[in-house]
Amino acid sequence: MSRIGETRVGSVSLRHPVMTASGTAGYGIELGRYLDLSRLGAVVVKSLAHFSWQGNPAPRLAPVPGGMLNAVGLQGPGIAEWIEHGLVDLERTGATVVLSVWGFRVEDYVTAAELIAPIASRLAAVEVNLSCPNIDHHSDGSSHQMFAHDADLVTKIVRGMGRAGMPLWAKLSANTTEVVTMARAAHEAGAEAVTLINTMRGMTLVDDGRRPSLGNGAGGLSGRVIHPIALRAVHEVHAALPHVPIIGVGGVTNGSEAFAMMAAGASAVQVGTATFADPRACAHVQDELDSLVRRRGVGDWSSIIGCAHGDGNR
Ligand SMILES: Cc1cc2nc3c(=O)[nH]c(=O)nc-3n(C[C@H](O)[C@H](O)[C@H](O)COP(=O)(O)O)c2cc1C
Repeated sequence: MSRIGETRVGSVSLRHPVMTASGTAGYGIELGRYLDLSRLGAVVVKSLAHFSWQGNPAPRLAPVPGGMLNAVGLQGPGIAEWIEHGLVDLERTGATVVLSVWGFRVEDYVTAAELIAPIASRLAAVEVNLSCPNIDHHSDGSSHQMFAHDADLVTKIVRGMGRAGMPLWAKLSANTTEVVTMARAAHEAGAEAVTLINTMRGMTLVDDGRRPSLGNGAGGLSGRVIHPIALRAVHEVHAALPHVPIIGVGGVTNGSEAFAMMAAGASAVQVGTATFADPRACAHVQDELDSLVRRRGVGDWSSIIGCAHGDGNR
């Protein structure tokens, strides 16, 4: 099916609003067997740190009705290794590449930015994963604290990532009531856009309630079950900060859910957990979104972004 034209996220122009969500499409060309990666808005790779990391103990995944829990724990080879292998493979496919970055401390992000700066021209943007555990806060005894709960840390990290010299997308969490405050802090610190949302914290028990299903105890809830939460976060941030581009992510499994994200205020949409059930999910969501928008007689994306607020046909 022919596609509707490009969309913009801040200064970044994308072939299509639909892209992969970090952590659900590998580091490189894993999904290339199932779909044409060059037709996606972008391939957002799993979050990488400046160091390699082994992740959490197994089991790391647990199905729940309407989604899944994961505690993969950001296992990965590290940015330098990825540049040599994953990035090179992705470039051969013609895909638009977005690198996602994580760290335990502010300094980890600064080091990552320094590694990225020399390859800036090979990436469309860097997504700054602010929704991962912050070990400085853990050592204070406050468990499960994330950067995206603290506007001061969000500001420091986004500023530090500025050294990459690239468009930055700040990936935030809805595990806070302060999502607008975090989005404002990220944008004022230099993030061109915010990605909403990462997984919601949750857990399930097994063995007649004797132990958690995940080796890590709690984990991140994703999939259709979180779609209304993601939609609310996108709507809330767009209402408060209509000038800040948003990438909507959370439980998008079809064209209507992608459309809803855009109507709520997202300029682009990511598909995550749906890919585990169907590795072609991104392409299906693209096709369905295109036909839905065509049926409405809309020829460009900007006229649907935020239309649920009455600011559609801008
Ligand atoms: C197995 C798994 C691994 C993930 N890894 C990352 C990651 O490395 N970095 C990140 O920013 N988000 C990660 N996420 C979160 C997704 O990118 C996405 O924000 C979340 O799952 C909500 O979207 P979904 O419901 O479409 O999956 C991961 C999600 C899953 C299910």
